[in-house]
Amino acid sequence: MPFDFDRIARTELIPLLSRAPKAELHIHIEGSLEPELIFALAQRNGVALPYADVEALRAAYAFTDLQSFLDIYYAGASVLLQEDDFHDMAWAYFLKAQADHVVHAELFFDPQTHTARGVDTGVVIRGLKRACDRAQAELGISSALILCFLRHLSEDEALATLEAALPWREHFIGVGLDSSERGHPPEKFARVFARAAELGLHRVAHAGEEGPPAYVESALDVLKVERIDHGVRSVESPALIERLAREGVPLTVCPLSNIKLCVFRHMAYHSMPALLALGCKPTVNSDDPAYFGGYLNDNFVALFEALPQLGAREAYALLRNSFEASFVPAERKGAWMAELDAVFAQAAA
Ligand code: HPA
Ligand code: ZN
Repeated sequence: MPFDFDRIARTELIPLLSRAPKAELHIHIEGSLEPELIFALAQRNGVALPYADVEALRAAYAFTDLQSFLDIYYAGASVLLQEDDFHDMAWAYFLKAQADHVVHAELFFDPQTHTARGVDTGVVIRGLKRACDRAQAELGISSALILCFLRHLSEDEALATLEAALPWREHFIGVGLDSSERGHPPEKFARVFARAAELGLHRVAHAGEEGPPAYVESALDVLKVERIDHGVRSVESPALIERLAREGVPLTVCPLSNIKLCVFRHMAYHSMPALLALGCKPTVNSDDPAYFGGYLNDNFVALFEALPQLGAREAYALLRNSFEASFVPAERKGAWMAELDAVFAQAAA
């Protein structure tokens, strides 16, 4: 779409990003659990927390790396026991998403975080699905679920997790790979991703967040993933960047997460401008918004405020990529892109 991006003033950019329609493709729904809801659910379910109150819990959100975050994230998820808990968590996220003009969201969930505590896979999936259906009916937000395997556990456990979820096969569209990246390369999960492919499931994996560019390559070559979650360390390998650009592999980048988990020292050093300039297909996402200081629009604001080299052209590319990279039929993507174009056409008029 030939917009005159130069007609969009820098002061217009943040309001434009905020009101533009967008898709979110990298959000761990357990990472949307706000401290207030953690305490409310703990009380409802009689779960004891190792924090005195909301302030004490929030004060613990000072992370030094991925593992220091994951330890607290799994502790927070311990309050989720009933189907309603999963519904309430996802519904709270959808209300935030609506405020950010998210029109489509693909939600990651971690069944193993819950089955390890005796919660049935069906309880998790049915609760989330009920919130997804309600978001469509009441908010007009479309969504889908992606089942993630915890990579610090074994591949056999991942295989058992997938099989246990098959009674609800029609409720999720794909599989992903998350948790501690270092020391757990994608190839550890070759068989379970092959099984997912046989089942007609989409495939994504976290790679190149803390792990090296080689993990991005093996996620593509061995797991045959269709998107890379994070992938921000790909810039360390010119050959990989050239391949990502040539193959048009979408990257679901999470700016605030990368700063909170010390992947980059400051937003001004984020690899997003390089990824865009080198022809890759990044998107902007919130990862674990309750833990990292903001939802989707907060991520756009933090990124664009810290990086003056990102302008209206880059804003449009990121938003458009979010639709292109989504796992929905082409005609629905086209309808959202037309809405996006209308917003930019008006801003550039
Ligand atoms: N990385 C890996 N695993 C995760 C993350 C993340 O950012 N968030 C929740 N699980
Ligand atoms: Zn993530």
